[in-house]
Amino acid sequence: MSSSPSDDMSAFTSALKSSKRTIAVAGAGLSAASGVPTFRGAGGLWRKYDAIKLATPEAFRASPSRVWQFYHYRREKALAAQPNPGHLALAKFSVPSIRETVVLGASFTLITQNVDGLSRRALTQIAETHPELADEVSSSAVQNSMLEMHGRLFDVVCTSARCGHREFNLHSPVCPALAGTENVFARDEPEPHIDEKDLPRCKNCGSLARPGVVWFGEMPWFLDEIDGLVDHADLCIVVGTSSTVYPAAGYAHAVKMNGGNVAVFNLDRSDGDGDADFLFLGPAETTLPKALGL
Ligand code: APR
Repeated sequence: MSSSPSDDMSAFTSALKSSKRTIAVAGAGLSAASGVPTFRGAGGLWRKYDAIKLATPEAFRASPSRVWQFYHYRREKALAAQPNPGHLALAKFSVPSIRETVVLGASFTLITQNVDGLSRRALTQIAETHPELADEVSSSAVQNSMLEMHGRLFDVVCTSARCGHREFNLHSPVCPALAGTENVFARDEPEPHIDEKDLPRCKNCGSLARPGVVWFGEMPWFLDEIDGLVDHADLCIVVGTSSTVYPAAGYAHAVKMNGGNVAVFNLDRSDGDGDADFLFLGPAETTLPKALGL
């Protein structure tokens, strides 16, 4: 157990400035200020709905109608949301020419558990407001430094093993039959039944399509790449996550065991605190921009 974590912002700043390989592990709390519900906090999704009924391959097989209505609801919530200063600070730190104004010669990777696409939209906003950075922002180096390990809400994926076509779309609603069902989950109403033929279909082969997210029991994305990053990181920023779902929940401990620093940004105490060298309690949309100096 480390001594109690520091909340000294200037001490964190010097740890940040001396870091050569920084990673950030983000969770739903980073998007809370944007109006996207968290899972386990007040008003969280898994407190209202049984995750097993909604976010597993078995649930989808049992009722694609119910699961698609849940993901339609989450798509609509994310579409109505805007990136907040926490997303923007991390996105700016992902752009080398901006990061160099804070720390020289360091690498940075954002590992996000969030599927709402807000961190990627924050990157796009940087390119829009700083056209001189547009090429750098759209470079594969920057785009690939943002790892959405639980997939993407706006990907629609074919369920046929022979096809597997994956398409990114922001359609609202994702298909006509789902229109209006977004309120079902907001109001805890029993959901209407939608015939499978009216649910999203693969554009390529016509089979039933599914949301492009990683469900419980499925393999998160980029695990090998993330393990390599975790093994070499000397600073792990943990923001807006209850640190209860593995493997993401274990990354900070691994960095700590390798002699790296861990900085936790959360509204409340969380399971990730045990390894924290720094703990900044408060809304990440405020604490993170300050801590990153962006
Ligand atoms: N600023 C900082 N932290 C916040 C804020 C905020 N404004 N609002 C909430 N939090 C914190 C909560 O205190 C909580 O610790 O964010 C955390 C959210 O935790 P969860 O709801 O459990 O979300 P997350 O940790 O991302 O869940 C991990 O579980 O259900 C799966 O796949 C889903 O990716 C998700 C994974």
